[in-house]
Amino acid sequence: MKPIKVGLLGLGTVGSGVVRIVENHQDDLQRRIGAPVVIEKVLVRDLNKARNIGVSPQKLTDDPWSIVNDESIDVIVEVMGGVGLAKECIMAALEQGKQVVTANKDLMALHGGEILHKAAENNCDVLYEASVAGGIPIIRALAEGLASDRITKMMGIVNGTTNYILTKMSKEGAEYSEVLKEAQALGYAEADPTSDVEGLDAARKMAILGTLGFRMQVDLDEVDVRGISKVTKEDILYGKRLGYEVKLLGIAECQDGGISISVQPTMVKQSHPLASVNGVFNAVYVYGEAVGETMFYGPGAGELPTATSIVADLVEVGKNLQFGVNGRYVFLPYKEKQLMSDERIISKYFLLLHVEDKAGVLAQITQTFAKHEVSLESVLQQPNPDNPSAEIIIITHDAVKSAMAEVMKDLSTMKDVVNEIKSVYRVEG
Ligand code: NAP
Ligand code: HSE
Repeated sequence: MKPIKVGLLGLGTVGSGVVRIVENHQDDLQRRIGAPVVIEKVLVRDLNKARNIGVSPQKLTDDPWSIVNDESIDVIVEVMGGVGLAKECIMAALEQGKQVVTANKDLMALHGGEILHKAAENNCDVLYEASVAGGIPIIRALAEGLASDRITKMMGIVNGTTNYILTKMSKEGAEYSEVLKEAQALGYAEADPTSDVEGLDAARKMAILGTLGFRMQVDLDEVDVRGISKVTKEDILYGKRLGYEVKLLGIAECQDGGISISVQPTMVKQSHPLASVNGVFNAVYVYGEAVGETMFYGPGAGELPTATSIVADLVEVGKNLQFGVNGRYVFLPYKEKQLMSDERIISKYFLLLHVEDKAGVLAQITQTFAKHEVSLESVLQQPNPDNPSAEIIIITHDAVKSAMAEVMKDLSTMKDVVNEIKSVYRVEG
């Protein structure tokens, strides 16, 4: 049996996991693919670094082209990260007819279209299961399991760092900055946490899911992004009192051929399954016209969970190589894209306002909502001994996004009534 020869670009957290699973599960892999999997060469940046994975030093190289241009290698597994060299290596590998597996969400969100077209031109596979929600097989679910359905909504907790922070804030009543520091000390959050906490990592993953789920090319700059750095413990506390948990949700919707994709801290009803996804776990809720509600849950990162997805992709690529059918796994978007205008985006909202505590204030506020045809589901005034303003929490019925923007504009000009618009959240569930 001719082995499947792999060139592994990267031997960090994920690359080490790939080596471990290929070694430890070799017998099963061989039976599933019909050929053994051999990791032939491994790219690292620093050849002298001490590593906790036993790879023969003869296999290590710091020259990516000695792997990409090696004619004996069938599959490039890219787990080095970044969008420069990683893209060059993948494009060159595809031009040579090599198969590609990658975990790189940054690359797939920014250049996925170009890479997939190159793969299609060369009848090659490009599989990227690990790029979204690490160990959860959500790409395969959208591309294959739900291929017969029309997906109308996806909501994802696709960033473990922010979910860890929000869970801690909710369970311990702690402030964002305290929990972030603790998460950094424990290694859950990076030294520079911007990409995670400002929602950019989640936005990349939602662009990938949107493209696959709606079969339209979603560009990263079409994802409306707001992170969690302004979420306060008061917001979380008031949310809980009214039966909601704050979660950073990626929300992708498709209605009448129009799509909208966003990432934002959202009040999720406690009875919704996404509200109980805690800690570093990820979950993706998918609504299909025919299937109805489905939800996929599991570890969103980590050495072995992420490597599990990569090696599963290797099994598919290996089977395709055995049958000579590579290229059948290239999912090119085929629908014309139409972005929904704000007049078509509808949801409920949660608002926390600090207002003057005097007669007639509530009436003026509710009139403002009425003027823009935003109907209110509940209004709660909370006494707060630490705050001379009255605190008012409003939950709307389903409202049009552009109408809500008008309400906010008006409220911000009512200086003698509204002292501060403390927070505004979309409501789901
Ligand atoms: P990592 O621990 O930083 O490892 C990166 C590896 O690539 C290291 O072995 C590094 O070499 C090598 N490398 C990087 N740049 C290189 C260059 N220019 N030349 C040669 N070698 C280079 O990263 P990771 O956490 O494994 O993540 C890898 C990819 O998987 C990223 O795209 C990431 O977004 C994605 N991903 C990660 C996770 C996760 O849980 N970590 C989950 C899902 C997806 P040295 O070892 O010599 O430094
Ligand atoms: N930084 C990411 C997270 C890692 O926190 O989920 C997985 O992509």
